[in-house]
Amino acid sequence: MKFYKADILDRDALNDIFDKETIESCIHFAGLKAVGESVVKLWEYYENNIAGTLTLIDVMRKHNVKNIIFSSSATVYGDPAQIPITEECPKGQCTNPYGWTKSMLEQVLTDIQKADPEWNVMLLRYFNPIGANPNGIPNNLMPYITQVAVGKLKELGVFGNDYDTPDGTGVRDYIHVVDLAKGHVKALKKIEENPGLAIYNLGTGKGYSVLDIVKNFEAATGVKIPYVIKPRRAGDIATCYCDASKAEKELGWKAENGIREMCEDSWRWQSNNPQGYEE
Ligand code: UFG
Repeated sequence: MKFYKADILDRDALNDIFDKETIESCIHFAGLKAVGESVVKLWEYYENNIAGTLTLIDVMRKHNVKNIIFSSSATVYGDPAQIPITEECPKGQCTNPYGWTKSMLEQVLTDIQKADPEWNVMLLRYFNPIGANPNGIPNNLMPYITQVAVGKLKELGVFGNDYDTPDGTGVRDYIHVVDLAKGHVKALKKIEENPGLAIYNLGTGKGYSVLDIVKNFEAATGVKIPYVIKPRRAGDIATCYCDASKAEKELGWKAENGIREMCEDSWRWQSNNPQGYEE
């Protein structure tokens, strides 16, 4: 497989790649993705995510490449109107610029597909992916836990224990990054059937609380995770997990890894890479 390193905002570089290669479909992962950072660096988020995607779509269009798989997010549901969340659940109010970029780009891609039915647009709404992480203090739960486990951080702060959930802590649908990757392969296959516009939740359909994750991590690895209860984090919701049956029915895709594998693999990766990946 060939690798080109280029900025998604660099139209000439993109044109050059599309000129040189025969491309059938594009899987577009080139987005900035940190919720908190997007509030501070909103210009970078709107420019990279929105302007970058518009540049990519324009270059695709001009090269007659009309198949795109887009990395969307459960964040587009806002505080979800129903649990478990199906793809029919209305989109909601995002609480940060990152979320809005995903929501707006879904709309842009939907409109493009409507205007030109030759396009196949797959919007994949990821729930909470668990995989390898760069260096630095993490915002997300699992990398924070593994950095506590490896001794880089002292203790986990649990953001709120007074939510309307079984143990009061936030519930999410965590998905192994390998399962997520396989979902994209299935989506690529689906494009061969010319589905037009298709939206899929990629999650396991199971919700785990923060304390469930701590307990499962400790059981899977034998490492104790000290934690303290902190105030709620701004913008967090109580519960978010999906109904994953549409992807199973239409893509033949189902997450194969459970919480144990996610904990074991995260810990193996962090132990082998105590300093994380370079940014
Ligand atoms: N949490 C803690 N302590 C931490 C970090 C997280 O208690 O140090 C809690 C959060 O409050 C939340 C849960 O763990 O209840 C998960 O938090 P994450 O930050 O790992 O994930 P989020 O659900 O907030 O956000 C993730 C992605 C977003 C995406 C969103 C979609 O990071 O990109 O899922 O639901 F938009």
